[in-house]
Amino acid sequence: MTVKHRTGIDQQDEYDVFREFARIQIEAGVDALIVHARNAWLQGLSPKQNRDVPPLRYQWVYRLKQDFPDTEIIINGGIKDLDAAHQHLELVDGVMLGREPYQNPYLLHQVDAQIFGATNQRFISRFEVLQSYYPYIEAQLENGQPLTRMVRHIIGLFHGEPNSKQWRRFISENACKKPAGMDVLYQAEQFLN
Ligand SMILES: Cc1cc2nc3c(=O)[nH]c(=O)nc-3n(C[C@H](O)[C@H](O)[C@H](O)COP(=O)(O)O)c2cc1C
Repeated sequence: MTVKHRTGIDQQDEYDVFREFARIQIEAGVDALIVHARNAWLQGLSPKQNRDVPPLRYQWVYRLKQDFPDTEIIINGGIKDLDAAHQHLELVDGVMLGREPYQNPYLLHQVDAQIFGATNQRFISRFEVLQSYYPYIEAQLENGQPLTRMVRHIIGLFHGEPNSKQWRRFISENACKKPAGMDVLYQAEQFLN
């Protein structure tokens, strides 16, 4: 069993309160703690704002690991690339990325090599990733699922690449038009050539 939690609520500012919360989970036998390293402000912020506005407190998570060295501690919040993940891994056991791989899913293709030391990894281009997803999209379309439901997960695949905005815009504008099918993706590919 794992528990995902924050460093505290509202203006709570004492490390010891956070530590005590963690200690209770650990004594209850939790397998790992995943800490989103900022407080949740229960008054005045939307859930979305609560993911950005309260300041990050990575130091508290590092300190928690020092206080509970035998517990798996995973850090989360505002981590945007694998270099940053590497730095956190010097001080905690794991890193959780939330929004960044959603906005830029190709980030994940380097994880095995950069984080887990895989040496036999074949380079897989963004285009290959896209193509390998097509059979799944086709199967789901046949099941009656709308195209938007599948493409939302790859809309950031070409993030930072030439013409990615046109590719993304074409899909966003056309995937919701009924009956949108594979043609939308085939046409969008033209922006990538
Ligand atoms: C759309 C969305 C939905 C989320 N839903 C949950 C959830 O159900 N449970 C949860 O623990 N965290 C949820 N989160 C928070 C993320 O797991 C993560 O803690 C947060 O985004 C901070 O990490 P990040 O800066 O890497 O995105 C959600 C985040 C987003 C953007």
